[in-house]
Amino acid sequence: MSNTVQQTLLEQLEQIQQEASIALAQASTTEETRAWHSEYLGKKGRLTSIKRNLGGLSAEERPLVGKQANEIGNALQGALEERQAALALAELEAARNKEQVDITLPGRPQTLGKIHPTTRVLHDIYAIFGSLGFQIYDSPEVESDEYNFQFLNMPPGHPARDMWDTFYTTDPEVLLRTHTSPGQIHAMRQYAPETIRVILPGKCYRYEPVSARSETMFYQVEGLAVGKNITFSDLKGVITSFAAQLYGEGHAMRFRKSYFPFTEPSVEVDIACVLCHGKGCHICKHSGWLEIMGAGMVNPIVLQYGGYDPAEYSGFAFGMGPERIAMLKYSIDDIRYFYSNDARFLDRIG
Ligand code: FA5
Repeated sequence: MSNTVQQTLLEQLEQIQQEASIALAQASTTEETRAWHSEYLGKKGRLTSIKRNLGGLSAEERPLVGKQANEIGNALQGALEERQAALALAELEAARNKEQVDITLPGRPQTLGKIHPTTRVLHDIYAIFGSLGFQIYDSPEVESDEYNFQFLNMPPGHPARDMWDTFYTTDPEVLLRTHTSPGQIHAMRQYAPETIRVILPGKCYRYEPVSARSETMFYQVEGLAVGKNITFSDLKGVITSFAAQLYGEGHAMRFRKSYFPFTEPSVEVDIACVLCHGKGCHICKHSGWLEIMGAGMVNPIVLQYGGYDPAEYSGFAFGMGPERIAMLKYSIDDIRYFYSNDARFLDRIG
């Protein structure tokens, strides 16, 4: 190999070094420096291919050119690392600037959850009846015709069934309970002949038009007391005490005669309208009174279905609607707000 070949290779090396230095200075992203690396220092890079060709040089020439190639390689590697470090810093800075938080902006409000008005009223009801010695009894939402109607003294064809528009399933014997009253039978059949003092809360379903006062799904809380010598006075006492604890001592209330096939005698309980205090407004339909529940003495036939001897035992029962109670307590003028899923509704209860 002649001196000329050696000379040419040395010139090529110098050329590569110059071009590589310029290209590296122009690389403006880490990505571009990676491309630069494969062009000059990578496996198929220009400097690497010169190193591969050293085999053609003489034994004296090889170390000289090889040394020069290594020195250039090391220098370029050092320059690359420096450039990459500088670029990484610049890129980090740019990302930080882009994501910078403007601390002068007002914060986003955190929306805090609240207990739903129905749940709140249910908790109040549980606490009041708990203090009167009542326990909570769970009963099913899907019922049989027997429990929802027949055991409550409404045999098939009984006209009173029309008071409860019913969601039936494909099986005519199976329906969604229209009230919590069938739970009375479940409780009695479980505990007879023991005495009973329970409340039965839960959802009910009615196939009726939705309006400001009526939903197709709503809650009821049933109450049942069975024992010896239970009289209408006990019913009055319990309901009066309940209303006083819920609406405040001295809040006017009245018992009005009514009809339910499963109680005899039957009443409806009204309280003085909390919005107009008895003067008359659109909520109380200008009567000054609002109905909060149905109640009465358990019909002897129902006691019998429950497994009690009506000659020995008597009882009272009542059924109230927590949504209606919440409407009165929190001045909510439309029941449709309860389950329409607008969280702003929760602000109504302070
Ligand atoms: C009954 O359902 C009887 N089972 C109550 C009862 C129990 C009487 C035990 C005697 C002894 P009523 O259909 O009136 O009665 O409903 C009772 C309460 O449920 C009503 O006062 C009302 O507060 C609530 N309620 C009834 N229908 C709806 C409805 N569609 N939407 C919201 N609440 C309702």
